[in-house]
Amino acid sequence: ARLVVLVSGSGSNLQALLDASADPAYGARVVAVGADRDAIAGLDRAAAVGVPTFVASLKSYATRDDWDAALTAQVAEHKPDLVVSAGFLKLVGERFLAEFGGRYVNTHNALLPAFPGIHGPRDALAYGVKIAGATLFFVDAGVDTGPIIAQVGVPVLDDDTEAVLTERIKVAERAQLVDYIGRLVREGWTIQDRKVRIP
Ligand code: GRF
Repeated sequence: ARLVVLVSGSGSNLQALLDASADPAYGARVVAVGADRDAIAGLDRAAAVGVPTFVASLKSYATRDDWDAALTAQVAEHKPDLVVSAGFLKLVGERFLAEFGGRYVNTHNALLPAFPGIHGPRDALAYGVKIAGATLFFVDAGVDTGPIIAQVGVPVLDDDTEAVLTERIKVAERAQLVDYIGRLVREGWTIQDRKVRIP
């Protein structure tokens, strides 16, 4: 299966997918990596293993719709079976969801529906929860609201800082991402009444 991965930052989740897909038995390979900005480690990680990259920067387009159309076209060029947002910090638009909805997955560093948005670990820490974690889900038109594929919990420890908790979550998050992307592409899935089932 063909994966297009979208990134905005360090790309450690992307790296985990690149590493996993080195084994043909994994069932998926990363055919392209896209970003909404230049000069990020995620793009370097792709280039380092010869995976093509593209950048669709919001500020290069007159409107958000134009940007969304350009991103959609760039992703479509690579004919993905699944599109993976791995730390991609932009909300995609209607065009993108019309094309890739139902096969666009995102990994979020909190246990949804708690703590959506860009500060999951910080918000979890501030709330005082004792279990934090990561959620893999199919993206819909809302912010971090789509059907949940998988979740993994990690403990919140008394002395945690935001940085320490964020890193503990990311370790579990990467393993979950690799595991479930593999399952989805090898086994398929159904979504009924928001419930995702992998047969
Ligand atoms: C992940 O923890 C994701 O949940 C959050 O940003 C992080 C991306 O990390 N939105 P990386 O770029 O894959 O290292």
